[in-house]
Amino acid sequence: MSLTLWTNCRLATMQADALQAYGLIEDAALVVDGDQIQWVGPRSALPNDLRQRCDAVHDAHGALITPGLIDCHTHLVYGGDRALEFELRLNGATYEDIARRGGGIASTVQATRSAGPDELLQQSQRRLLALLAEGVTTLEIKSGYGLALAHERKTLQVARLLGQQHGVDVRTTFLGAHALPPEFAGRSDDYVDEVLRMLALLHAEGLVDAVDAFCERIAFSPAQVERVFAAASQLKLPVKLHAEQLSDSGGAQLAARFGAISCDHLEWLSDEGAAAMAAARSVAVLLPGAFYFLRETRIPPIELLRRHGVPMAVSTDCNPGTSPCTSLLLMLNMACTLFRLTPEEALAGVTRNAAQALGLRDRGVLAAGMRADFVLWDLQHPAQLSYALGARPSVQTVFNGEPR
Ligand code: NIG
Ligand code: FE
Repeated sequence: MSLTLWTNCRLATMQADALQAYGLIEDAALVVDGDQIQWVGPRSALPNDLRQRCDAVHDAHGALITPGLIDCHTHLVYGGDRALEFELRLNGATYEDIARRGGGIASTVQATRSAGPDELLQQSQRRLLALLAEGVTTLEIKSGYGLALAHERKTLQVARLLGQQHGVDVRTTFLGAHALPPEFAGRSDDYVDEVLRMLALLHAEGLVDAVDAFCERIAFSPAQVERVFAAASQLKLPVKLHAEQLSDSGGAQLAARFGAISCDHLEWLSDEGAAAMAAARSVAVLLPGAFYFLRETRIPPIELLRRHGVPMAVSTDCNPGTSPCTSLLLMLNMACTLFRLTPEEALAGVTRNAAQALGLRDRGVLAAGMRADFVLWDLQHPAQLSYALGARPSVQTVFNGEPR
């Protein structure tokens, strides 16, 4: 393997136990061995023999380097859009009204089912490219707009294909229990049977990295979610949950009982829910785009999460109904302005804690032994990442040790 040295840079390592904020190292060096980080530290501490074994040297010209960004909660693969529903909401209808009238998620299901794989790939690729332009190197993509075997499979296959074609690591999550498809109207328990059947088949095809569900009065009950999670656990798949987004249904406690890697949204999270998440080491994934776009007024209980030591991640929730957003940097800003995270917490939320929310231990911080996924920013200080709106800072992304 060849060694590459990156020098003349400032590193925000984001290591959890670092003494400096952001794990900042001034005048730093970073050595990459193939697809792994071999060494990070101040340039003055770089061992001479390691320096001599480097056969390529990159001058970063004073760039700030962070871990590659991780968008740990997206529904990026879908057909159509919901601009008309946006208009309906502005004329007074609520998100839940529209869902109950058969619009909302159901209308995206229709558009996703009628799109062929190529068309779905084209439409989704546009969103992916926007995320990649801001330094995303790992991305979770959920199914959940197919809601029938062929269409859930198509969604997951398109998600995997996007990863293969674009130099980004895509993790796929099966969200069959997202909404009740029209052909199962009035028969939600029967649909849960179908979700279990789809899960077993898609898992056998190697298309599923994790399992998610939407636990809400307009979606699935805790008892139904429990059946999905029990099946996932049998298959040894990690689970995560859309929990307490519109009401408190005790989803966080339920997810924690299954050792969920994350609970997501959490505007209505209770004290018991937060305690259960802390005990289960579940990550709280905060989605300020959905909060903003639905014009919610109740923010997730950030202080409670801090008090319980629950790690917080931040994500776009990229989806057509509640967060048509393709900027993870904008989510950093909104996590700070709307939810009052500090810029350091926000950046940890798209690096170290986002990795944990996906159950990944090999990324999210700059440290020896981690994947060589990192971003060079034309910025002085990591707080600038959360500060600006729409600034589009110039980035160079290194994915798997190679400039992308
Ligand atoms: O994460 N909460 C459920 N699912 C999505 C929204 C889906 C939609 O409206 O299309 C979310 O907010
Ligand atoms: Fe979501």
